[in-house]
Amino acid sequence: MKGLILSGGKGTRLRPLTYTSAKQLVPVANKPVLFFGIESIVAAGITEIGIIVGDTKDEIRAAVGDGSQFGARCTYIEQEAPLGLAHAVKIAKDFLQDDPFVMYLGDNLIAGGIRSLVDEFRESTANAQILLAEVANPQQFGVAELSADGTMVKKLEEKPPQPKTNLALVGVYMFDKTIWESVERIEPSARGELEITDAIQDLIDRGLEVHPHKVRGWWKDTGKLADMLEANRIMLDSADLHRQHSEVGTHSRIEGRVQLGENVTLVNSLVRGPSVIGDDVRLENVFVGPYSSIGNRCVLSSCEIENSIILADSEIADLPARVDGSLVGRGVKIRRSDAKPKAYRFMLGDNSEVSVG
Ligand code: TTP
Repeated sequence: MKGLILSGGKGTRLRPLTYTSAKQLVPVANKPVLFFGIESIVAAGITEIGIIVGDTKDEIRAAVGDGSQFGARCTYIEQEAPLGLAHAVKIAKDFLQDDPFVMYLGDNLIAGGIRSLVDEFRESTANAQILLAEVANPQQFGVAELSADGTMVKKLEEKPPQPKTNLALVGVYMFDKTIWESVERIEPSARGELEITDAIQDLIDRGLEVHPHKVRGWWKDTGKLADMLEANRIMLDSADLHRQHSEVGTHSRIEGRVQLGENVTLVNSLVRGPSVIGDDVRLENVFVGPYSSIGNRCVLSSCEIENSIILADSEIADLPARVDGSLVGRGVKIRRSDAKPKAYRFMLGDNSEVSVG
């Protein structure tokens, strides 16, 4: 079997971060989301992985390389524009050939990995297997209807206004070579994309077997801020956090499960876990509260942060209120200023969001 990870796309819901970088590389517990996906494919015994890339191809290639850091061999497949999940499958044909494959959306996280699902597909007679999860807002997803005995998928609809079930498609799919004919037969949808739901519906219409697999643990599509922060909390709760070679000075304290990178300086600060602090970070007169991920080379002073993701090379200083529920990009500077007049002074990129209390 081969793997196909989709790491192109527009990432409009995570602007402004996605103007300058790939959403799949935003870190959760200081590890890019995409790396969790690659690791779970490798853990399922699949080492030949194709990665669909778009405008952010150079950054993805620089982070993942040839895949050897994961014990995999990665091949990059360029998609000229985000023309849909089924389009991504279509352009991967030369790479996938007639092998069965698992398709994984590069911004998704699934608890417990995908090994058992891949084994189930390998041992079944299914031509495709899709993952389904019960959701409260099925209007926003691809939605599946099952046969009366629950063993087959009967019908799929993309973002239906009146969904017939609450079973949403989760971002992992398995296919055999019968998918090739279906991706050729379908037409772009009203939003101009080749929809994977239409391709799977075509398999069903051709009398082929599409099996459902209900996800029991949690899964997350990290495409939005709230989901990204939740994924960060879940990962920090379950991660094996350990201290590396940093010294905690006498006036500083670490409480709970905290991972400290190399060369972290703590002065008069309290870090409460679960949290991760990257390499070469300086914390002075700071409280880092639970569920925080602080990237490499950040400098924080006289501030309090919790439940937030701060990317590398950012500086936060002298804030009168706690930073909570925030996602701060790379090289961002946030500081209090005594300059007159007393005012907020911003330099924000397009689509930035600021809330002041
Ligand atoms: P989405 O999150 O559905 O789309 P998007 O990345 O364009 O984001 P937004 O809705 O915020 O604008 O895509 C799911 C995953 O698949 C994501 O990792 C991007 C990837 N993808 C491709 O690689 N090619 C595509 O044509 C599409 C639509 C998505």
